[in-house]
Order: sequence, then C-alpha cells, then structure tokens
Amino acid sequence: MKRLNSQLQDDGAPMELILLLRTILAGCKEISFRVSQGALAGVLGSTLSENVQGETQKKLDVISNQILKDILSESGYVKAISSEEEDDVVGCNPNGNYLVSFDPLDGSSNTDINSLIGTIFSITHAPQWMEPDDPSAFLQPGTQAVAAGYVLYGPSTMLALTTGKGTHIYTLDKTHGGFLLTTANIKVPEQTSEFSINASNQRHWQPHIQNYISDLLAGKEGPREKNFNMRWVAAMVGDIHRVLCRGGIFMYPQDAREPDKPGKLRLLYEANPMAFLVEQAGGLANTGDGRIMEVMPTDIHQRVPVLIGSKGEVETCLEYS
Ligand code: F6P
Ligand code: MN
Repeated sequence: MKRLNSQLQDDGAPMELILLLRTILAGCKEISFRVSQGALAGVLGSTLSENVQGETQKKLDVISNQILKDILSESGYVKAISSEEEDDVVGCNPNGNYLVSFDPLDGSSNTDINSLIGTIFSITHAPQWMEPDDPSAFLQPGTQAVAAGYVLYGPSTMLALTTGKGTHIYTLDKTHGGFLLTTANIKVPEQTSEFSINASNQRHWQPHIQNYISDLLAGKEGPREKNFNMRWVAAMVGDIHRVLCRGGIFMYPQDAREPDKPGKLRLLYEANPMAFLVEQAGGLANTGDGRIMEVMPTDIHQRVPVLIGSKGEVETCLEYS
C-alpha cells in the first residue's frame, strides 16, 4: 500500500508542507494513543474550565491541544496557530512559513461514551509582514488554504487529507506507525437518501430549512418521492467521514436563538477544512448563503451555518431558500 509521503509527493506538495503535515500527524498519533488509553489513564471527564466559546473543556481537549501546540511551536515551520481551545492566536516561530488552525478534539463530548472523535486542521501560508501573534493573518477565506484534513479516532485511526489535488483517505497502521493510502481520490456520491441533523433544534431553524426537512421526513409519500434515513454522530468529524464514504447531507443550520452566532460550527477550524475536503471529493459546502470557503472571516472563532455533502442534495436544499 502507498505511503502518505509518496502520495503527497505525487500530488506535488512542497517538501516543507510535507514535513509540516508529518509533524501534525505525529501529534495526532500521540492523541490517538492518549484517547485509546481512556479510563486507564484517567483522561476521561471534564476540567473545571470553559474555552472561549463557553464550552466546558474535557480533559482530552486540553491534552490534545497541548500536544499539537507543543509539537507545532517546536517544529519551526509554523508562524502561529489558532485553536478552538485557545482564546487568542499563539505565536510560534517568527520565521515560520505557515499558519495552522485546528480543533484538537472535535466531538469531545463523545470521549466519555467511547464514541467517534477526531482532530481537524487547516493550513495556509503565513504572510511575511505578519507578527506571530497577529490574528489578522488568519482572517483569510478558506480558498487560501494549502491543505486541510482530519484524523478520526475510531475503530481504526484514519486520516482524510487534501492539498488541493483530490481528497485521499489513509489508515494508520499501528504496527509501524505509518499512514497508508486506503482510498485514493474519494468521491462523494452525487445523490443520497441520508441526512444528518440534530433534530432537537429543528423548531429554531429558518422556515425554508424546516420545510426542506419536512419534505425529507415525508418520504415516499411526500414531494421527494423517496424515503430518507437519518444519522447523527454528534461529532462533525464522524458525520463528515460518513458523508465522504457513502454520501449524505450534513447540516448545522442557522438557529434563531442566538442571532449573533449564526450556527454552531466554527469557520476556521471546522467548516472550512471540511468544506475543502468535501469539495475536493466532488461534494458541496455552503452556508445557505454562499460557498463556505468564500466567507471572509472577521474573527478567529467565528461561527457559520453549514450545509455539506452530496452535490445533488445540497443543491436541492438550496432551492428551498
Ligand atoms: O464541535 C462542535 C460539535 O461537537 C460538532 O463536532 C458536532 O457536529 C456538533 O458540535 C454536535 O452538536 P450537538 O451537541 O448539537 O449534537
Ligand atoms: Mn469541534
């Protein structure tokens, strides 16, 4: 089976980017090990603190963040990082050529039930003019990313990665610690009969989104004239992995309860990297109001509504607006 390095070289990734990706993945392998230790290492459960988003941090959120922060700061390749678990941008090497945004442990409420979790990341070039602790350089649309990916800590530890030449899926072979290519150029099926929502929020969504969901639920007897199935992992990384593997539409739409937070998911380290991966696999990623990757960020922790998945289904959903 082909190794990660050789696929990245075939895709024309520059050597420094390959080295940076390998650094991130070294951190993820450590996270994978820590996560797998679970209760044996006393790492389950919550801390007493909240992150800048007002979410209670899990012990594994803090551990995973520290692992990535340390390894990236020491690598030399990175000028600054932004993380879900850091209030502000963290400056690294003033001469570093890259910026990395990451969600160190997505879906971390799943840690306590031994369910899917993962690390999501996105990489852009660091502008020369930028001071390492300047957040403004992170405020670039997703179209500027040079690479994005996630590592899913499931029954297998899997990597989905794009450098803009398709999305490839790798599986960590724990016997030697390498990521091996298991699906090259994955393609999201254009049509689907599966959707992914947290239905408990449905009454707070915009009327046209509620109408769309009602039509899915109406099944064969409704206007869509087919039955739909529903799946919700409660970890974006798990739901998007399923969408990449077998299609579907994943939605976390705008919610009327908090008008200043349009949606739950964060643009820089959740929506954008997933959008890049899914678009590179032939799917679509939209806010309901335009392409996710074209949103100009105004804040490193900005939230956006998210509609991601099979091209035909995202287009159908957009026709309701
Ligand atoms: O990071 C936010 C997140 O955990 C996503 O991974 C996931 O899709 C979503 O929130 C789950 O939200 P809820 O708690 O509403 O099911
Ligand atoms: Mn997350």
